[in-house]
Amino acid sequence: MRLTGTKEKSTIIESALEAEALFATEAAPPQLIGRNMGAILVDSGKLKLEDVERILRVQKEQGLRFGDAALKLKLVSAEDIQHALSKQFAYAYLRPGEGGFANDLVAAYKPFSPQVEALRALRSQLMLRWFNDEHKVLSIVSPGAQEGRSYLAANLAVIFSQLGERTLLIDADLRNPRQHIIFNLSRSTGLTSILAGRAGQDAIARIPYFADLSVLAAGPIPPNPLELLGRPEFSGLLDDLSRRYDVILIDTPAGSLFTDAMTIVARAGGALMVTRKDHTRLGAAKALASQLAASDAAVIGSVLNKY
Ligand SMILES: Nc1ncnc2c1ncn2[C@@H]1O[C@H](COP(=O)(O)OP(=O)(O)O)[C@@H](O)[C@H]1O
Ligand SMILES: [Mg+2]
Repeated sequence: MRLTGTKEKSTIIESALEAEALFATEAAPPQLIGRNMGAILVDSGKLKLEDVERILRVQKEQGLRFGDAALKLKLVSAEDIQHALSKQFAYAYLRPGEGGFANDLVAAYKPFSPQVEALRALRSQLMLRWFNDEHKVLSIVSPGAQEGRSYLAANLAVIFSQLGERTLLIDADLRNPRQHIIFNLSRSTGLTSILAGRAGQDAIARIPYFADLSVLAAGPIPPNPLELLGRPEFSGLLDDLSRRYDVILIDTPAGSLFTDAMTIVARAGGALMVTRKDHTRLGAAKALASQLAASDAAVIGSVLNKY
């Protein structure tokens, strides 16, 4: 992914989806890493205390990091290390299949991949450029289908929650909703239920495994999605939720196919535009960009999704 600001060029972030750099993110001094890592591995029953001594010796002799020394001695598996690292850095790391979420949720299943590094850089940009007490809502838009809006929204939501932000993801794509699949939620209640007055905010699901992440699925799809999104109840709901959450991300339908997206953008006040390399048509991207520019909403940046 590549993030560029609309007005000025900002940090460029590239995704490298083919690479799997598991241990590339250790930033703390090696000594500190060693101690914490050892303690975590012992606490979680992966290492015996007497093994720690052997590891520390090899670590010192060969100038290795603790995790690498433990691996070399075959005392732990790469997965054990990754799990310990995730604890060390307070990332919600899930083992494959754990939690029952879709594999799309790389922020949880592959927190050390370069792609998730890129997403964390995107999060920093968004914290700098948009989120504060006045701006809590951001819509994720793109012109066409299959461009990664839902993927980006879901992973960003996980990553914001990892920062300790009270995070809510709303699936407002009432044409082709997908967040209930990604987060393994029921289809029977959600945004539409609240807007139609059939449910209260208990339709919002708190997602276990993550520090502070909630998801409001789309809910049953009505014949008139646009009418529902245009109702004042939607604005009212967002105002209400803005008092309870720090970060609210909204997934939207394809912008060039439905006018829903612009209705949502207007309510959200801010938009992040996604395009997909070798997929999004330039004309469609330009058309959506000018629609966004003509709206009252702020365009916070654009992400080029390469995969
Ligand atoms: N950066 C990415 N890396 C890998 N797969 C991706 C990426 N972005 C999107 N996908 C995949 O592409 C498909 C379409 O993405 P999705 O987010 O559903 O698109 P949209 O919401 O724009 O229609 C999904 O299967 C998703 O998992
Ligand atoms: Mg989608």
